[in-house]
Amino acid sequence: MKIAVAGTGYVGLVAGVCFAEKGHDVTCVDIDENKVKLMESGVSPIFEEGLEELMKKNNATGRLHYTTDYASAYKNADAIFIGVGTPEMPDGSANLSYIATVCRQIAENVEHDVLVVVKSTVPVGTNDKVEQFIKDFLVKDVKVEVASNPEFLAQGTAVRDTLHAARIIIGTESESAKAKLMEIYEPFGLPIVSVGRRSAEMIKYACNDFLALKISYMNDIANLCELVGANIEDVAKGMSYDSRIGERFLNAGIGFGGSCFPKDTKALKFLANQNGYELKTVEACVEVNKKQKLRLYEKAKDRMITFSGLRVAVLGLAFKAGTDDLREAPSAENISRLLEQGADIYAYDPAGVPRAKMQFPEGSIGRGSITYVQSPEEALEGANICFVFTEWDEIKKITPDKYKELMRTPLVYDGRNLYDLTDMDKAGVEYYSIGR
Ligand SMILES: NC(=O)c1ccc[n+]([C@@H]2O[C@H](COP(=O)([O-])OP(=O)(O)OC[C@H]3O[C@@H](n4cnc5c(N)ncnc54)[C@H](O)[C@@H]3O)[C@@H](O)[C@H]2O)c1
Repeated sequence: MKIAVAGTGYVGLVAGVCFAEKGHDVTCVDIDENKVKLMESGVSPIFEEGLEELMKKNNATGRLHYTTDYASAYKNADAIFIGVGTPEMPDGSANLSYIATVCRQIAENVEHDVLVVVKSTVPVGTNDKVEQFIKDFLVKDVKVEVASNPEFLAQGTAVRDTLHAARIIIGTESESAKAKLMEIYEPFGLPIVSVGRRSAEMIKYACNDFLALKISYMNDIANLCELVGANIEDVAKGMSYDSRIGERFLNAGIGFGGSCFPKDTKALKFLANQNGYELKTVEACVEVNKKQKLRLYEKAKDRMITFSGLRVAVLGLAFKAGTDDLREAPSAENISRLLEQGADIYAYDPAGVPRAKMQFPEGSIGRGSITYVQSPEEALEGANICFVFTEWDEIKKITPDKYKELMRTPLVYDGRNLYDLTDMDKAGVEYYSIGR
């Protein structure tokens, strides 16, 4: 099948590459010329395990192409997948302007019947509007159908999640759209759940918000554990044997970040309010997460007289291990506060530094400064205090003795519960984590 994919971010690029891997003829479209040049040379603009290998392999087969020329990519496509961003607006609603632009480009350029598939996460009812919008702007007399196919990959494991997805959700309103999507996914050999478009849109939000709720619930319980002398890890272990609860997403920590959970919780809350309904569970989740991100910072601020002039080691910048994405990362909010307070930050992350530099350019910022270093050891050397924000293996491997040896004052605030309390105590490290 001839497929075009609009947007080559985490979702679009991985989808495009995996479609090519499964035998389709794919053209990935992006507005960013630099990205397109990189991809043509076999370099992935994002950090995802296994992605670059698959790109190189499929570039060589001639089944995978990249372009900024959307008109030529859309005009003869059998299916066009939309994977552009739907970021958060100031009021919490989803910004659909990128989707609207792509729809207009599709409407003005398609030359034969086409299935448009919305992969981006969009509020319930958006697919209906997309179909109407495209029809309103159609130039040629062709049949355009719209289907919903929400994406469930997790950054860091995106390729694996796509090739071995637990299920594919397809939301369609006609047998022909359903048949075409089934045909596209047939070579993946995965379970397909076929529902109506609005249910498909809702499944995506319901899943993300449920997982976000699970995280916020565990963080809430962890904070209470601290107050009553229980240990969240023991509590989570005890809970995990209950198959109704399951063992995943029970780790307490510094709160969720990334490009999905924060915006998708707010967008569902907005959608509920718009429909006159108060989604109290999700509202609580958003509130808990907001506070959780700064929990260690507040504790540390309480412990220190000031951060001004202190050498602060920051271990981990990405919102989670396995990605270079910093969107809504707990590290970013903490770094902003530390800089405001005049801290001199030495930050380490094995993948996130280039993106971090766009947000916090190296050198003096306000009253403080930030320096990016090549190893956790360099960050820790002579530090007065250390914050751990990401659970990278390189950071997990640091021994308690190393903290003691390298830091000027071994004071560690760990947002990922990476180390054993007794080991840290034995090594003489003053150690604070979450819920223990
Ligand atoms: N990142 C994830 O883990 C994830 C998982 C599931 C679903 N989603 C959803 O998928 C969507 C995309 O997320 P992402 O993280 O891949 O976004 P992203 O920001 O990484 O990528 C979006 C890409 O679209 C490009 N773009 C913008 N306008 C364009 C246009 N008119 N034509 C072609 N390209 C255009 C941008 O240049 C960018 O490369 C969002 O709705 C998101 O909520 C994301």
